[in-house]
Amino acid sequence: MSERVIPLVDQRIPTLQAPAAAFDPATRIAATGLLADRLGRPLRDLRISVTDRCNFRCSYCMPKEIFDKDYAYLPHSALLSFEEITRVARLFAAHGVRKLRLTGGEPLLRKNIEILIEQLAALRTVDGEPLDLTLTTNGSLLARKARALKDAGLQRVTVSLDGLDDAVFRRMNDVDFPVQDVLEGIQAARDAGLGPIKINMVVKRGTNEHEILPMARHFRGTGMVLRFIEYMDVGATNGWRMDEVLPSAEVVKKIHAELPLVQLGASAPGETAERWGYAGPDGRHDPALGEIGVISSVTHAFCGDCNRARLSTEGRLYLCLFATQGHDLRSLIRGGASDADIESAIGHIWGARDDRYSELRSLQPPELGSPPQRRVEMSYIGG
Ligand code: GTP
Ligand code: 5AD
Ligand code: SF4
Ligand code: SF4
Repeated sequence: MSERVIPLVDQRIPTLQAPAAAFDPATRIAATGLLADRLGRPLRDLRISVTDRCNFRCSYCMPKEIFDKDYAYLPHSALLSFEEITRVARLFAAHGVRKLRLTGGEPLLRKNIEILIEQLAALRTVDGEPLDLTLTTNGSLLARKARALKDAGLQRVTVSLDGLDDAVFRRMNDVDFPVQDVLEGIQAARDAGLGPIKINMVVKRGTNEHEILPMARHFRGTGMVLRFIEYMDVGATNGWRMDEVLPSAEVVKKIHAELPLVQLGASAPGETAERWGYAGPDGRHDPALGEIGVISSVTHAFCGDCNRARLSTEGRLYLCLFATQGHDLRSLIRGGASDADIESAIGHIWGARDDRYSELRSLQPPELGSPPQRRVEMSYIGG
């Protein structure tokens, strides 16, 4: 081991146990599908991180200086098994979850991920419907895996793509990965029917903002939805600075000047993205031209109806992307808890939730952010 000082508190240590009340028959919470947190927000979306590893080193997520060859990734025994993930997901579905998103790190690096997808595809919502089953990927392995993912029951994918220019893209992923391979992955996902495909572009002022228009032109009229994401102060390692955030309002203005846009209504409550449709010659939204989305976590917080829970790679439940502590579900699972016990624990944990980090943060001067020391990394709880 080197003597190197790692400028990072291990975000994986702070853990909360489920409250004792969860196991007391008098205060047990059964799943009814109607769970709400302290701010009245339902639980609808579960994001499951299946690995903390990634083959890219995007500076806003897994900067090379921290995630180097000495970085201690989780050992395999620490990860939730597919059976454990499926069991937890089933209990979340009983509480009202309708959407499952597999994330990472890079989820396609998890061995035999298709087997997990098959198991998750068999789950049902409280209304007896299949869950919306999707996955966020960097696209590097999609060309090889798209067909198998579809066959396993995956419905759609979201692909991260930060630019079309090869040099810019290589700089953003910081491992010299060629953009062409990701574009081929996206094509393979289309061919396999993994749609509607969403493309997520994190915009960093001064780094890839000149890719906004080429990206818009490229994806307009393809049926794929390009979303522009404000660079967030998530995690503790990316050296976030407000002056590198390009506000979504500027993105919309830039695109609108060349390709006219009209604002569209939200398609689902609690949605992350604000939708803008491309206008046809009559000035109205032309569905054939499609739409874009802007995700403004920094300039326009959307905590008010946030219905997302996150399950970390090793089975901790996080109630906010900016949380500093997770709730240890794995020790319950591995300690022999019954389904009713785990359901009750989830009920108590969600019921006590009052997180609204982005909203609180927008009440203070933007350059302050919050003390980053203990925030969890996005590669560990997933986007
Ligand atoms: P769809 O179901 O396809 O609409 O996806 P989504 O918008 O729910 O999820 P996606 O994972 O594609 O989110 C896109 C990006 O939005 C993420 O990568 C994050 O950068 C950001 N994001 C997602 N959820 C949250 C959240 O709860 N809070 C904040 N602040 N940002 C989020
Ligand atoms: N800011 C905004 N989005 C981020 N992501 C990761 N780190 C950040 C950040 N600092 C999101 C991106 C990427 C997905 C995997 O995680 O959307 O596409
Ligand atoms: Fe990997 Fe996605 Fe993070 Fe980039 S943003 S390092 S592709 S997990
Ligand atoms: Fe939800 Fe936290 Fe994001 Fe707000 S900051 S939208 S509460 S995850």
